[in-house]
This record gives sequence, structure tokens and C-alpha cells, in this order.
Amino acid sequence: MEKTQGMLPVRVLVLCLFFSLCSSRFSIPLKIFTGKFNSSVDLDLTPLQKIETSGNGLSLASDPSGIVNFLDMVNNLQGDSGRGYYMEMLIGTPTQTLNILVDTGSSNFAVAAAAHPFITHFFNRAVSSSYRSAGRAVAVRYTQGNWEGELGTDLISIPKGPNATVTINIAAILSSEGFFLPGVNWQGILGMAYPVLARPDSSVEPFFNSLVRQTGIPDIFSLQMCGAGISASTGADPVGGSLIMGGVEPTLYRGEMWYTPIMQEWYYQVEVLKLEVGDQNLNLDCREYNSDKAIVDSGTTLLRLPINVFNAVVDSISQTSLIQDSASGFWTGTKLACWAVGESPWRFFPKISIYLRGTNTSESFRITILPQLYIQPITDVGGTLNCFRFGISSSVNGLVIGATVMEGFYVAFDRAQKRVGFAVSTCAELAGQPLAEIAGPFLAESVSSDCVAGSFLREPLLWVLAYSLMGLCALVLLVLLVLMVSPCRRRRGSEITDESSLVRHRIK
Ligand SMILES: *[C@@H]1O[C@H](CO)[C@@H](O)[C@H](O)[C@H]1NC(C)=O
Ligand SMILES: *[C@@H]1O[C@H](CO)[C@@H](O)[C@H](O)[C@H]1NC(C)=O
Ligand SMILES: *[C@@H]1O[C@H](CO)[C@@H](O)[C@H](O)[C@H]1NC(C)=O
Repeated sequence: MEKTQGMLPVRVLVLCLFFSLCSSRFSIPLKIFTGKFNSSVDLDLTPLQKIETSGNGLSLASDPSGIVNFLDMVNNLQGDSGRGYYMEMLIGTPTQTLNILVDTGSSNFAVAAAAHPFITHFFNRAVSSSYRSAGRAVAVRYTQGNWEGELGTDLISIPKGPNATVTINIAAILSSEGFFLPGVNWQGILGMAYPVLARPDSSVEPFFNSLVRQTGIPDIFSLQMCGAGISASTGADPVGGSLIMGGVEPTLYRGEMWYTPIMQEWYYQVEVLKLEVGDQNLNLDCREYNSDKAIVDSGTTLLRLPINVFNAVVDSISQTSLIQDSASGFWTGTKLACWAVGESPWRFFPKISIYLRGTNTSESFRITILPQLYIQPITDVGGTLNCFRFGISSSVNGLVIGATVMEGFYVAFDRAQKRVGFAVSTCAELAGQPLAEIAGPFLAESVSSDCVAGSFLREPLLWVLAYSLMGLCALVLLVLLVLMVSPCRRRRGSEITDESSLVRHRIK
């Protein structure tokens, strides 16, 4: 035994480092603000925008098989950035209706399958004749929350979706902590990312993979979220959005759609080349913007920036706005900034631009959000003040293009061509003024040819290697456990210590 111990440590150390590195790369961020700024004042906030689909309504909306009609899917989402965007789905036989949160930052379809104080109803497996248990447990843990349950399959259909009924994997949530939140109107979550992120492992085919395989619709979906400029914490009826499955609906955007390559198919990982506040280039090494990744995630409320980037952005904004350092609580999200009613704070704040790598890799394009998107109205205090929160937060695990930014754009997740498209959304307008802009192409010559740190893992071969090493590490761990000597033991759990997790980063 002594000898074994003596021989293994170095290798074990290396492998365990590797293993922990890998497992930390698999953490799943899922974070929804529910609005901590509760106010006794109830506001009458009428939704500001409706999707304009009237007109001639002419679009390439139908495929020959008649399974998808994009116009039928327009406005199939409800919600806002604070409480998430959800879609009605019919599950089981006979069907049970549930609202399901759309999350492009995870890959499980998970629904409440037991009562919980914060939800009105749940999926009752016992009364669905088509439900099949897979007899496998599944659990996802967050820093301060979790859910666990059982895997199974059942039939689902989407009233405002493709005209089809498909069999999909379902994680039936039997117990949870900090997952369902007071005031949300959804009972499950639809993870739209790639199989790599599925729990307990990638053999659990995600919903959209199943849908594409069983219906033959194109491997692309697109998302329009219409909460721009709407207070995030009032009880007002949530506004809406659209999840178009199978393609891109032309009436949901203006101008051109610009595409950026998906760097790696797990999250929707993209490459950020440059950030500008106002017209000022932040001038950071572009790898800072992508450390340790940059992703597009509808399940994240805010625009989240790596700490260095965040600090630079705040410095830059506070130079041009009237919010000074003394208001540090505003930047960190613990305080609101309020102005007298009738005074618009937005004119004090600069636009923010994110430059993304183009599909022609020597070019880039920029997506620009106006202050109306990141200085977010919260509530009206006593009718004399308008209060706002800062829609940007810092992150220790990468840049996240969350709802704050996505609400300005119609975003196409073109999995078939491994790219994410951005176009100015028809619903990102306030008083007739667009809240987002897109421009390009720009030459990407001035930035490094590769801004993605740790990009070696992008090679499929290296993934195989990575998995093999992880397997080996697991084996070594097992041996060590058997020997009851386990310096790596604490690394074994699949616990997600993710700064952006559901609980930590939501406002409560
Ligand atoms: C927040 O909500 C609690 C419970 O509903 C209430 O007692 C309290 O007054 C609220 N705070 C504000 C600032 O409105
Ligand atoms: C949906 O598909 C079924 C069977 O293919 C067909 O009978 C029905 O008309 C379709 N419904 C719509 C709205 O296209
Ligand atoms: C890519 O962009 C560069 C710079 O604008 C241009 O010179 C080149 O022709 C483009 N390549 C293709 C294949 O379009």
C-alpha cells in the first residue's frame, strides 16, 4: 500500500488537476433574476411593443412537409428578462400543459414532477400512459440550489410549434432547492444547448436534437425576446417573445442578419474580439473578453463580463455618465439609481458595442446596445421617481451575452452551419427608436487571430483525449478510494460551483 501511494501521487496530481479543470468547464450557469427590488407600489406598465407581423405576412414560412409554419410560432413565448421567457408545452397522454423556460445555456428538458410551494402545478407521470421511466437518477447542483429527479421519456407537442408529436427525454424533478422561484410562472426548463452539457451525460439526447431527428426540420432555431424597456420586477403581465423552431422568420428582424461562428458546440460559444463603450475601445487583450469563454445564453438575465472587463466598462461608463464612484452600489447591483419622473437617465449613458468574429474570420461585425437595454427600469417609487438597475454584472467564468443584450436582437442559433446570427429585433424599440444596432464588416486584422483561451479543446481529437484522461483519472480515483487513500476525493462530485448559478446571481 505504501508503495502504491508512493508511485501514484505525481500522476494522480496531474490527472486530478486536469479532471478538475475539465469538470469546471462543464459547469452549467442558470440564473434568473426575480427582482429583489420589491416595492409596495404597483405599476401599471403596459407592454411597450407588440411584434409587427401584420403587413403582408409573406415569408418563407412553410416547409414542403407542412410541419413548420413560422408565423404560427410568432409570439409563442411569455415572460421577461427578470422571470425568464417560457413556452407552453403539452406533455404525456392525455396531454398535460406546462410552461417551460427556454434556456440556451443548458441541455436537459426538466419539468417539475412533484408539488413545490412556488409552482401551481406539475407533470404527473402516473397519469400519462406514454411515460416511460429510464430508471436513472439525474441531479444538477448549483452553488446554493439544486434539483434532482429521474430520467424518462414521453411524448410532447407544442401548440405554437412544429406540427408534430415527438418522444423526448424528460428529467422529472422530484425535489429541488432554490430552483423554482416565487413569482415565476414556469414549471420546467428547456435546455437548448448541445449534448455535451446534458446531465448525467451526453447520451441523454437534448430536446432540440430529438425534434430535428424525428421531424426532419432544419437544425436551426431562433429567438426573439421582447422585454426591452419593461420593468423587471412588477406584477404586470409579462411581455412576450418568439422561439422559431426550424428556421428564421423574416418579419422578426430588420436589416441584415450577421453571423459569428460557434467556436465549440457545448454552450453556444462565440468569439468576442473587442468591446467599445461609447466610441471608446476598451483596448484590453482580446483573450480577456473570452476568459474562460464567451457564450450566448437566454437563461442569464444580465450581460455578464469577466472581472477585468467589467471594471474597465464601469470606469468608462462612469466617466461619461452622472453616476459617480460614490454610487458603487449601483454598479455592483445592490442599489438602484433613481431619477425624477420625466427625466430620462438614458441620455447620460453611452452605447456599448461588442465585436464578434465574422464567418469570414478576417472580418468582424459589432452588435450595439443602447442604454435603454442595460439601464433597466425597475419601479416607480411613489410616482415621483423612476428607478433603474445596472444590467451588467461581473463574472468569474466567462462573458455571457444574456437577456440584457439578446432583447435587442433576433438571434438565430444556426446549428446546421455552426454559427449564431444577430439581427436588429423588430420589438427592440422604445417610442419608435431602435434600441440596438448592428454594423459591419470591420477588418479583424488588428486583433489576435485567436482570442479564445484554451482553444486546444476545440479539436475533436483532443476532446477524445480529454475524455480518456478523465476516464483514466476516474479510474485512478476509484483505485484510490478502494485503497481508502484519496487526495482527489473532493474532486469527484459533479457539484457545480458556478458564480452565475441560479441562486447566486438572481435578485431576490
Ligand atoms: C417587500 O416585500 C415584503 C413582503 O411582501 C414587504 O413586507 C415589504 O414592505 C416590501 N418592501 C418594500 C420596499 O416594498
Ligand atoms: C398537422 O399534421 C396533421 C397530420 O400530418 C394534419 O392532418 C394537420 O392538418 C396538420 N395541422 C396543421 C395546422 O397544419
Ligand atoms: C474575407 O475578408 C477579407 C477582408 O475584408 C477579404 O479580403 C476576403 O476576400 C474575404 N474572404 C472571402 C472568402 O470572402
